[in-house]
Amino acid sequence: MADSPPHPTTHAPLHDMDEWEDFLKTRYPEGESGDSGSLDNAGLPAGVAGTNKKKTEFRNYETDARPTVREFYRQNHAHQTLDFVRAKKAEYTPRNQRRMGIWEAMEFLNTLVDESDPDVDFTQIEHLMQTAEAIRKDGHPRWFVLTGLIHDLGKILCLWGEPQWAVVGDTFPVGCAWDRSIVFHDFFESNPDRAVPEYQTKLGIYSEGCGLDSVHLSWGHDEYLYHVVKEHLPESALYMIRYHSFYPAHKEDAYGYLMNGHDREMFRWVHAFNPYDLYSKGLERPDVNTLRPYYEDLIAEFFPPVLNW
Ligand SMILES: [Fe+2]
Ligand SMILES: [Fe+2]
Repeated sequence: MADSPPHPTTHAPLHDMDEWEDFLKTRYPEGESGDSGSLDNAGLPAGVAGTNKKKTEFRNYETDARPTVREFYRQNHAHQTLDFVRAKKAEYTPRNQRRMGIWEAMEFLNTLVDESDPDVDFTQIEHLMQTAEAIRKDGHPRWFVLTGLIHDLGKILCLWGEPQWAVVGDTFPVGCAWDRSIVFHDFFESNPDRAVPEYQTKLGIYSEGCGLDSVHLSWGHDEYLYHVVKEHLPESALYMIRYHSFYPAHKEDAYGYLMNGHDREMFRWVHAFNPYDLYSKGLERPDVNTLRPYYEDLIAEFFPPVLNW
């Protein structure tokens, strides 16, 4: 992001946000998760379809992580408090940052330039199209393809001055105890919520089975984009968008006690989406200009020309 306009990346530990996703791929290697991207798992309760406890549990990702990734998680776990999440929701959910269409938002996200070799790395639009094209090739419905295309647009938070730790990273509930499965758990020691006894119990400020809609997850690109698009997409798409970084739930089966039956049913979509999110970024560079008319039609099918961001 060295060439980006001035915004607070001063303390940005990651070279670019893809570095966090690369780390996810080392934790959840393709082919070990049981997720197929098909909906073969449909109907299984959450926590069955997405279980990923095979070879991977014997590896120590924290020890092997790059220093940049470690530092990123240190900041994320130290600063994501209930008060912080409430403040960011108050700031962004009125959606008065900017008015723009979906394609314009994709181009805006594309201005996020990273420090890596541009000949090797893909642009943000190319990443989004790779995900969407992988979904399209598997014959999924048009709303599913569209969800692949837009699911990371919330990362424009970065361009509005949010630090990396408030944009990306595995999300987790705040206001209750941090599950042991959350990576780099020890970094929660420096989170101010550690000193609030009410937030340190299993249920914290929540009640058993209250449903994820009433749970505050750590703030980032998932929750933000959900609020931008929630009037326009089917609920299955909204679950994918809102919870795709909620790895403690969809990969580690944690926090089932905060879910209700409807969440469990809808999480099959989150499970179906995850393999496309993690593993669709292959070597083939999508031809953006050729694909653009198809995607502009798809966008127009679901969205008005301009949205509030
Ligand atoms: Fe994402
Ligand atoms: Fe993604």
